[in-house]
Amino acid sequence: MTQRGTAILNLNNGSAPIELPVLSGTMGPDVIDIRKLHAQSGLFTYDPGFLSTASNSSTITFIDGDKGILLYRGYPIEQLALHCDFVDVCYLLLHGELPTPDQKKTFDAAIKNHSMLNEQLVRFYSGFRRDAHPMAVMVGVVGALSAFYHDSLNISDPVHREQSAFRLIAKLPTITAMAYKYNIGQPYVYPQNSLSYAENFLHMMFSVPTEKYEANPVIVRALDRILILHADHEQNASTSTVRLAGSSGANPFACVSAGISCLWGPAHGGANEACLRMLEEIGDVSRIDEFIQRAKNKEDNYRLMGFGHRVYKNMDPRAKLMRETCHEVLNELGLHNDRLFKLALQLEKIALEDDYFISRKLYPNVDFYSGIVQRALGIPTSMFTAIFAMARTIGWVAQWSEMVSDPDHKIGRPRQLYTGTTMRDVPGSYIK
Ligand code: SDX
Repeated sequence: MTQRGTAILNLNNGSAPIELPVLSGTMGPDVIDIRKLHAQSGLFTYDPGFLSTASNSSTITFIDGDKGILLYRGYPIEQLALHCDFVDVCYLLLHGELPTPDQKKTFDAAIKNHSMLNEQLVRFYSGFRRDAHPMAVMVGVVGALSAFYHDSLNISDPVHREQSAFRLIAKLPTITAMAYKYNIGQPYVYPQNSLSYAENFLHMMFSVPTEKYEANPVIVRALDRILILHADHEQNASTSTVRLAGSSGANPFACVSAGISCLWGPAHGGANEACLRMLEEIGDVSRIDEFIQRAKNKEDNYRLMGFGHRVYKNMDPRAKLMRETCHEVLNELGLHNDRLFKLALQLEKIALEDDYFISRKLYPNVDFYSGIVQRALGIPTSMFTAIFAMARTIGWVAQWSEMVSDPDHKIGRPRQLYTGTTMRDVPGSYIK
């Protein structure tokens, strides 16, 4: 980053104006460096929800919300989704460049070497109710990885960081599929290292010991693309959670578990599950207007799930790619007349012609179509966010690693604007 200029803060209280550096990155908005503001003025800035705040610098992912641009290490998501697979993208997010064939072979083998879970961890699942939400299981089991891998918890050691990254990338599909198998009472299926990442996950999810399982290549490619589209997304809520947890020196397994917890919320990664349930509740095109009116009603805090975004004020490029994947999968499966997909297309059309959504620049986001694709792949609604977490693990790990490898990183410790009761004494009745 370079200093492009200076911002002058005039407090109009007789004190001298405060000079704050204006810093430029390689793309996107410049920033006012306020690190010395409190020392120079005694003031804090105030930005609940971080609408105007850059929490850190990063070289990993860039988003231009107005233009609907998403780049992983400079590559447009559209090109990565078309020409690469998820393992290429994992390597890219971690190392900054796409792998050569030899690098990919080594990286893929290293990941596969960690795809099994310690058998004692398998017993964790039986502690949950069968009908536990898969995200509750994921939070617990991923956090518990810290109890098993003491040999890679020294976060200042790059070798340990790489080991932890391999373990998290490799084990999340196994943990996720096992959460599904536990939920439906079927035996766990162990990873098959001869299969690709996406194929292996589908095998662990849908194969049963009694029959041979062959994944449909179109389905495998669709899942691989879903994983690419969800891999990283700058400083979203769950990534910021992982960074904040990691800033205290917490181990990566605990940090990713914290990220999974944050992603679960319906305003974030839980929106894909909520969106499908919304489409099922709407049920028919004739009821779309009723739900649009509810979403527009200030008295009703109802929102159209899968619509709107803090950063995108244009169509989320991932939503476009997900819509294309919907078409491909539904056509391949002979479901091109899928009721919910047709309903979603109609809902998108009507909303995007409505001034409420146009004026607020509310467009479909990544979660709007992902539920329909996943449902077509045979994935149950309750698993949608778990699969988002599985895909986002590489983004969390890359962002966490970028932070902890920065020798200047500090523990994250925001301040506040205190609006509570001013200082007072305990009543005499308490004083003995
Ligand atoms: C993800 O950050 C990321 O990058 C996240 C993510 C990632 O990859 O990590 O992209 C993944 O989380 C996508 C978002 C999934 N969530 C949803 O689809 C839930 C529905 N959407 C919203 O709740 C909302 O749009 C947010 C949370 C996504 C964004 O909220 P903001 O930026 O805080 O915007 P806001 O709540 O201030 O809304 C601005 C206005 C308000 O109206 P006014 O007060 O101006 O009159 O837009 C309205 C809101 O009421 N609005 C909606 C709406 N989203 C915003 N109205 C109806 N339906 C909606 N979905």
